[in-house]
Amino acid sequence: MTNVITVSDLTKTYGQVTAVNHISFSVRKGEIFGFLGPNGAGKTTTSRMLTGVIEPDTGRIVILGHNMMQSPVTAKQLFGVVPETSNAYPDLTAWQNLMFMGELYGLSHNTATEKSKNLLSVFGLSKHAEKKVKSFSKGMKQRLVLAMALIHEPQLLFLDEPTSGLDVASTQTILSMLREMNNRGVTIFLTTHNMDEANSLCHRVGIIKSGDLIAIDSPEKLKDTIGQMHQIEISVDGILSEEKLVHLPGIIRVTRKADKWIISADNQDITIRSLVSLCERENLPIVSINTVKPTLDQVFLQLTGGVSS
Ligand SMILES: Nc1ncnc2c1ncn2[C@@H]1O[C@H](COP(=O)(O)OP(=O)(O)OP(=O)(O)O)[C@@H](O)[C@H]1O
Ligand SMILES: [Mg+2]
Repeated sequence: MTNVITVSDLTKTYGQVTAVNHISFSVRKGEIFGFLGPNGAGKTTTSRMLTGVIEPDTGRIVILGHNMMQSPVTAKQLFGVVPETSNAYPDLTAWQNLMFMGELYGLSHNTATEKSKNLLSVFGLSKHAEKKVKSFSKGMKQRLVLAMALIHEPQLLFLDEPTSGLDVASTQTILSMLREMNNRGVTIFLTTHNMDEANSLCHRVGIIKSGDLIAIDSPEKLKDTIGQMHQIEISVDGILSEEKLVHLPGIIRVTRKADKWIISADNQDITIRSLVSLCERENLPIVSINTVKPTLDQVFLQLTGGVSS
């Protein structure tokens, strides 16, 4: 699989504060990569280094085959950025902001005009094209900023907390647009501290805490590997005795809840297999069997210690 972002040994310090501490990771082509961490963890600092806004103290960043230290201008032409704070000019209209962005990316007037029209329509802003951005609601402004990031049809998009402060409907609009773009092949690097968002959107997430990258994996695997016990819920047609259950391999605890047994196990695979064999031996049809995973919130809190600075 091709990597569109490769980061090695990236560090940034501000005085006494090590905002980003020797982190290395890569983002694969076509994925939505979530960069998670509590407030002050170093997400924005990382995002700013990746997009060439600030220079790292040490490290190497390669984006779409271009070294950000050697050829930042070429690399910047290939990606779009939705920064933490809106980069739309409040005194310009939505249309003027889009056209200005088109000019920055070197589009011809005709191409910029065509793209701006399209984007305003896709983002439901056509009616507001001639309004100054300072009159926009947060949701409208964020849709415009996203449209601006897409004017040059980038293959890679960086977003820093794109749904921060938005209501449920605007959040869903932005997220479904990101999914749609990703379906069309755009790779997405997104920083967030919203676990639901990361869980539902991201193929893989990296978790940063006080500048250190402490975990990187798919949300599902992270939930698997935090060492928290797995729970299995089983209900059968008949009587499954507690005595038989507690002697199965890998079982830590067995409790009864209504017509189900709730089984805590340290190795879900072994326990499920032995449960199924037990039911077969006892001739008990299985009505339902479910595994209950920890949530990404629990993973995050366990890994980050729940502290924010
Ligand atoms: N320009 C700066 N000057 C001094 N310190 C800075 C600067 N930018 C960031 N920092 C510090 O670096 C650390 C990481 O900040 P950063 O903005 O990257 O965090 P973040 O993960 O984006 O947080 P948030 O969730 O609040 O946006 C913090 O301790 C912050 O105070
Ligand atoms: Mg930030």
